[in-house]
Parts: sequence; structure tokens; C-alpha cells
Amino acid sequence: MGMFNFFRQELAIDLGTANTLIISNGEIVVDEPSIVAINRKTGETIAVGSKAMQMHEKTHENIKTIRPLKDGVIADFQAAESMIEGLINMIGTRRRFFSHMKMVICIPSGITEVEKRAVFDSADHVDSKETYLIHEPMAAALGIGLDVEEPIGNMIIDIGGGTTEIAVIALSGIVCDQSIRIAGDELTTDIMNYMKRQHNMLIGERTAEQIKIHAGSALQELKNPPPDYAVNGRDLMTGIPKQIMVSYQEVAHCLDKSILKIEEAVLKALESTPPELASDIYATGLYLTGGGALLRGLDKRISQKTKLPVHIAEDPLRAVVRGTSNALKNSDTYSFLIDRKSV
Ligand SMILES: Nc1ncnc2c1ncn2[C@@H]1O[C@H](COP(=O)(O)OP(=O)(O)OP(=O)(O)O)[C@@H](O)[C@H]1O
Ligand SMILES: [Mg+2]
Repeated sequence: MGMFNFFRQELAIDLGTANTLIISNGEIVVDEPSIVAINRKTGETIAVGSKAMQMHEKTHENIKTIRPLKDGVIADFQAAESMIEGLINMIGTRRRFFSHMKMVICIPSGITEVEKRAVFDSADHVDSKETYLIHEPMAAALGIGLDVEEPIGNMIIDIGGGTTEIAVIALSGIVCDQSIRIAGDELTTDIMNYMKRQHNMLIGERTAEQIKIHAGSALQELKNPPPDYAVNGRDLMTGIPKQIMVSYQEVAHCLDKSILKIEEAVLKALESTPPELASDIYATGLYLTGGGALLRGLDKRISQKTKLPVHIAEDPLRAVVRGTSNALKNSDTYSFLIDRKSV
């Protein structure tokens, strides 16, 4: 038995639009942006993860960078497979060495059957012998440490790169959920557009994301405001690089519309929650996870809107992969895992 276990590899994978994380033996062994750089001529993978991200928007005709996931689902299958394979290879152990590879992969709750099959196929392609899928809000809830099997309702708001998923979980199932394609990527795009419109300045996706992280805010007034952020970009009129300072109030202003849509989705989810579970949520509050949970003031803003307590998950970027890993350990007992036969 011990020998047998030695040859087993078990991976929990959070395949996200923005970031892919992998836990093996309870440890995070991969935490990389979901991106792959490919040689246009040969189709070979040149780099994956942060190495590929460094090349993003700086490529020439022979190299292209691809983010294989869009809005939480695989948009480019070949690139996704290359990326998953590259990331698993980063773990360092030679895969052929293992007689049995088992995986739990987390997927958005709004995913179609065809998309689910595609994820199974990708797992087969990297030699997984036993693959399960888990819905992202369920994984998030487990990662936060909630007891998802109890007859108590909990509401999770997971704001990732591609999607915001709002779900009520009770008795090992998703009772109701709302999924909108407005999340971190959309906020980044808002900032790019704003800089162009307001400051006649062209900036890339990575710069816009840095503005969001360093000077982003959901509120016009913050208790602990970040300092103004220096932004470098190209002047639209002169074509010459320039620098301007951006304040968090400005960023709050430009993100306002998208955040309103997230708030509306939260309200809709609350409206569709059965009353008995609504009373649980009234007592426990809402849980925010995903990278978007880190936006300054967002918890306060949602709390003001809903008049409910809002908790930010500890380490929100990693809650989903931790929950996925928890599911992997309990794959025999958790009824909510999806296997290939069920799709
Ligand atoms: N401090 C921060 N403030 C605001 N946004 C942030 C911060 N840190 C990360 N983000 C954003 O969080 C998003 C990534 O979050 P996460 O890793 O949870 O997404 P994902 O799981 O890859 O996407 P999805 O679940 O939609 O497939 C990115 O859009 C990133 O810009
Ligand atoms: Mg996610």
C-alpha cells in the first residue's frame, strides 16, 4: 500500500481566467498567471505562466501569447492543453514515474456540458487516470472553511478575472446562483478606456492592472487611502511616452459602473434565495473571495448596499484551490464532485 501510494500523484487545480493554482500533497506548487507563449511557426510552447506573462504585449511576429481562458471557460483548447501541460511539468517530477494520477479541477458553475467534457479531455491528455470536477463557488466555500454539508445557507461572492459568481450553498449543493461576466478583467479594461478618454493616454493591460492593484478603490472615500500612482504610457496626440499621476478617487470613479453591475447581481441572488436560507444569510453575512475581493472598499460598499455583514476570505486568491484540495482529500464522501460518467 505504501509503495502504491508512492507512485500516486494527486493534484487539485484551480484553472482560472487570470491565475492557475495547483496543490499537490497539501502544498501550493504552482501559482502562475494563466497564459502561454507559443511559437507561431512551429506551434511549440515557449513559456507558460509568469515567464509567458513577461512576454505579453511585447511579442514580435514569431511569438504569440495566449490567455486560453475567457470568462472562466476554455476559449482556446489547444493553448489550454499546452498551458496545463507546461504548468504540471513545472512541478518537476516526471509524470511517467507515476502509475496513477488523480485530479480535481474547479470549473465555473455556469459551464456547459460540452465545456465540462473539454476539461475532462484536457485532463486525459496529461495522463490523469481519475478526474473530478468541482463547481467554483463550492470550492470557494470549502476553502473558506464553511461546512457545506450542513442545512445552513451561506452566500459566496467569488470575483475572479473573468466571472463574478454568486452562489448560495447548503446541504452539499448550490441552491441558487448568479454568474456575470464582469470581474477583474472588466475592471482592468475600464481603466484602460478611462486613461484613453480622460488623459489621452494609451496603456497596456498589465499597466492598467497595476493601477487597479495600487490605486484601485470601490469607494470615493477610503479610511486608509493609497498614495497617487505614477502611470507611464503613450500620449495619443504626440505618440511620445509620458507619465501622469492617478488618484484612487479617479479609479473609483471609472470602476463605478462595473461595480454597480456586480452589486445588482448580488441583490438579484439575494432576491432569489429561499426565505429559510435568507434568514441564515442574514445571520452569517456574505463571503467575498477571488482576487476582486482585494479591491479597496468593496466589502464596505457591498455591505452598505445589502445592509448585511461582508467578510473577506483569508487569502482570497487561494481560497478556491485550497477548497479544491480539500475536495480531493474527501473525494469518496463528497457527493457534489462531478465525474466523467455524469456529463
Ligand atoms: N489587490 C487587488 N485589487 C483588485 N483586484 C485584484 C487585486 N489583486 C488581484 N486582483 C484581480 O483579481 C483577478 C484575479 O483573481 P482570481 O485569481 O481569483 O481570478 P481567476 O480565478 O483566475 O478567474 P476566474 O475565477 O474568473 O476564472 C485579476 O483580475 C486581478 O487583477
Ligand atoms: Mg477563480
